[in-house]
Amino acid sequence: MNDHKVKAAQMAVELIPNQAIVGLGSGSTASIFIDLLAKKAHEESMDITCVATSGQTQQLALGFGLKVVDIDAVDRIDVTVDGADEVDPYLNGIKGGGAALLFEKIVAVNSQKNIWVVDSSKKHPRLGSFKLPVEVVKFGVHHVYNYLKQRDLKPVYRQQEDGNYLTTDSGNYIIDIDISRVDDLPKLADELKSLTGVVEHGLFIDVCDVLLDGNTGESIYRKD
Ligand code: A5P
Repeated sequence: MNDHKVKAAQMAVELIPNQAIVGLGSGSTASIFIDLLAKKAHEESMDITCVATSGQTQQLALGFGLKVVDIDAVDRIDVTVDGADEVDPYLNGIKGGGAALLFEKIVAVNSQKNIWVVDSSKKHPRLGSFKLPVEVVKFGVHHVYNYLKQRDLKPVYRQQEDGNYLTTDSGNYIIDIDISRVDDLPKLADELKSLTGVVEHGLFIDVCDVLLDGNTGESIYRKD
């Protein structure tokens, strides 16, 4: 287990108050947070309600004894704790390395506060080292792929180990694109959202409020 991810998760657990409704992210760092949150909730008899961002996270949280409800069963989410694949100095990021970007974004935009837990390897001066996941409905997917190819974004279908295309929790495909040479990311985000067949993309702009860096122990707040 990566000690720096553990440290970031520990820092996040300290920020969860009793009676909170908590969005649970997906991925290895979020999983450590879920484990620690369950332990704290048990030891301190906290009343915590959770909303999961993937089927895997839901199973994990239930296994740890946390109360998990459907997102539409709550009228607010107080705080969501999630990992990230890449973060820039403005706390904009790329998510979806684990293919959970759609539910992660739905939970995030409906949260009062978003905390990201990372180790320093995720911090980059600009986004684009990590390939940007784009979630696309299966019907007509190759037309979206061709468009992205013509845009010189070097699309690649995400595959499972058996070689089949990976299918998300919502039954869609993921196409990973290269945004390393794109300067205007908000414009790209709008362009991707406007493509018929694209459900969501992994650019999270102005979403993260607090970044917890497990290497340095820093809490970095977004400047509005
Ligand atoms: C899941 O789809 C992703 O957005 C994860 O949050 C991201 O990949 C970070 O994962 P790790 O914490 O495993 O690095």
